[in-house]
Amino acid sequence: MDHFTYKDGRLHAEDIDLDAVANAVGTPFYCYSVRTLQRHYRVFKAAFEGLDNLVCYAVKANSNQAVLKVLADAGAGADVVSIGELKRALKAGIAPSKIVFAGVGKTTEEMQAAIEAGICQFNVESEPELNVLSEVAVSMGQVAPVSVRVNPDVDAKTHAKISTGNAENKFGISWGQVPGIYARIAALPGVEAVGVDMHIGSQLTDLEPLKLAFTKLVGLVKQLRSDGHDIRNIDLGGGLGIPYDPAEETPPSPNAYGALVREQLAGIDARIILEPGRLIAGNAGVLVSKVVYIKEGDARRFVILDAAMNDLMRPAMYGAYHAIVPLKEPVGDTPSWVADYVGPVCESSDTFAEQRLGHALVSGDLVALKSAGAYSAVMANSYNSRALVPEVMVMGNKFTVIRPREEVDAIIAKDIVPDWL
Ligand code: LLP
Repeated sequence: MDHFTYKDGRLHAEDIDLDAVANAVGTPFYCYSVRTLQRHYRVFKAAFEGLDNLVCYAVKANSNQAVLKVLADAGAGADVVSIGELKRALKAGIAPSKIVFAGVGKTTEEMQAAIEAGICQFNVESEPELNVLSEVAVSMGQVAPVSVRVNPDVDAKTHAKISTGNAENKFGISWGQVPGIYARIAALPGVEAVGVDMHIGSQLTDLEPLKLAFTKLVGLVKQLRSDGHDIRNIDLGGGLGIPYDPAEETPPSPNAYGALVREQLAGIDARIILEPGRLIAGNAGVLVSKVVYIKEGDARRFVILDAAMNDLMRPAMYGAYHAIVPLKEPVGDTPSWVADYVGPVCESSDTFAEQRLGHALVSGDLVALKSAGAYSAVMANSYNSRALVPEVMVMGNKFTVIRPREEVDAIIAKDIVPDWL
């Protein structure tokens, strides 16, 4: 459930008319709802009540300081994948003891910063990484807590570009190599095994692959414990999907996921770490855009928006669905107007929706692309020299710009023309 609803015929974010925000900041802009972020965190956390658990929000989904502060205040930890995300999480007030560090290519600089901060654990993805981490920790007179990210080789049945648990993916340590890696940890002076970790993919809409992976994981934990390793943390990663298209997708609820975890991990005495990203932030944001032109082609009708693939990459990159709704509530008849929704960027992939059924729009109308709170603003770029759009946060009847619109001149000013040219 989110807090983007029509009130008096206008789309609101909580109690704020999005039209008013458009008047204040111009279009396009992202808008996030605090109450929705809080609600999603609360519902997810409640699904694990009674279990020893730590919810580490996947910062990569939306790393704005204001968003992180909302989640830090709600009690969330953080799953980070770079020194930048580590700094963001710490700056937002997330306790280092609630931070896990993932990623296949951690650098020594990143390892040092995370050891210095005193994070909960490194999720290690290869033996070379383990060796370097041990060296770095030893040089600092420390022992780094590690969990090994294991690759269970299950098909997550999600988009290939966000599937991570197959043997063909770059992520995690192959199943057969896992016992050897833990033996290596025991032999190295600068690392200490504290748990195991897995993450099989994102936008999962079916619990079956997770069930399969958890069954394998439980067997592994038992084996590692009998080998003498102190497995205290079981990190199950993120991945629970959200209904981008409620008519087509019915992802499992947090409660169903919580029940699966309880059932599969029953009797395993460990702290469960969870890394939800999309589930928390996805439906807590929208991208508001203006219709620049309606172009009636021979084969298709195009709604040309002032937002483009650089602002929201998901449709171009994954063929992702985002609902598109007008800010002015449509009245009367059922939708019968079919159009492609595109941006102004010079690529055919700059298409948000093809042959989408909706209500007729005219130039100047405002629309909201929904479910744009996760993997949206964070993935934006300045292709076609388009400035990054502002982000706005709403709570109740208050709104604030939490990241201003970038200036085109500031982008150009970053370029350096060599004095020898
Ligand atoms: N933990 C790890 C180790 C991850 O790699 C990810 C996401 C998460 C947690 C959070 O997963 P979530 O709960 O959000 O599904 N840009 C893509 C999604 C990439 C996900 C990368 N990893 C998209 O827009 O769909």
